[in-house]
Amino acid sequence: MKIIILGAAAGGGFPQWNCACGNCARARCGDPAAKPRTQAALAVSVNDSDYVIFNASPDLRGQILATPALQPRSGLRDSPIAAAVLTGGDVDFTAGLLNLREGHRFGLYAGRRIFDLLGDSQIFRVLDAGLVPRRELPVDVPTRLANGVGQDLGITVEAFVVPGKVALYAEDVSRADFGSSEGDTIGLRIADDHGRAFFYIPSCARVSEDVARRVRSAALVLFDGTLWHDNEMIEAGLMPKTGARMGHISVSGPEGSIAAFAGLDVARKVFVHVNNSNPMILDDTPERAEAERAGWIVAHDGMEIVL
Ligand code: MLT
Ligand code: MN
Ligand code: ZN
Repeated sequence: MKIIILGAAAGGGFPQWNCACGNCARARCGDPAAKPRTQAALAVSVNDSDYVIFNASPDLRGQILATPALQPRSGLRDSPIAAAVLTGGDVDFTAGLLNLREGHRFGLYAGRRIFDLLGDSQIFRVLDAGLVPRRELPVDVPTRLANGVGQDLGITVEAFVVPGKVALYAEDVSRADFGSSEGDTIGLRIADDHGRAFFYIPSCARVSEDVARRVRSAALVLFDGTLWHDNEMIEAGLMPKTGARMGHISVSGPEGSIAAFAGLDVARKVFVHVNNSNPMILDDTPERAEAERAGWIVAHDGMEIVL
């Protein structure tokens, strides 16, 4: 199974268009220790010809242009993208679907909550249901993925609910939970037919007992690395929100993901969806060194992993 990290940054990317924080400034001026990153997504294939993309980021068009494996193979109109799977309704996970509107057939998979959000937005009707069938992913049931005409892709995904929050644009601020409900954020176990499997969890508010049980002893987990600590955006003067308010666990601290994964015996641990404010996004910071000492890799765009 080949996994290509199309984008490793959180919403906004790195550098973010309207951000002049120290990290973004370094990325903008070409500092080699501050590699630019696009918004989080993966491409996965078991035959190196048909690919499934996991989340459709607003940067998808550029990600395809940067990835030869996702470009036309033969004929006048073609794309290796056979299916897309969404783990949340956030702009950074869905807006890229609009880049896939030029008459290409593919299977679109997401949970009920996410399809409800897409259904509320007329603009996604541009993906003609005759070409892009919407196939609901049940939770806790392994589901085989198929292309737009129903041909099996040799990949099975199991969706599971993870702690999280409703998409920002759909928040109901009159409610304590912002109107969130189960299935707003899902994690995925992605497996081939030869016993190889990994987890993609780009957004997660907490490593619950259920999440810990699922990922224990996994060969590979790609996990939410949004913020280094909960207050970092407030302290940097960027935004008045904590990570918890945004539905993201922090990397550091006793409640953070490094601590939560410490006893879980995961062979390869990779941070994705890393925010531009997070000091570990830079190659030369003490925070990056600390993450690496704890056995984590901070993903970068174009990184490939073969399982
Ligand atoms: C997030 O990860 O919290 C979202 O991408 C925020 C957003 O939609 O801007
Ligand atoms: Mn995001
Ligand atoms: Zn920034």
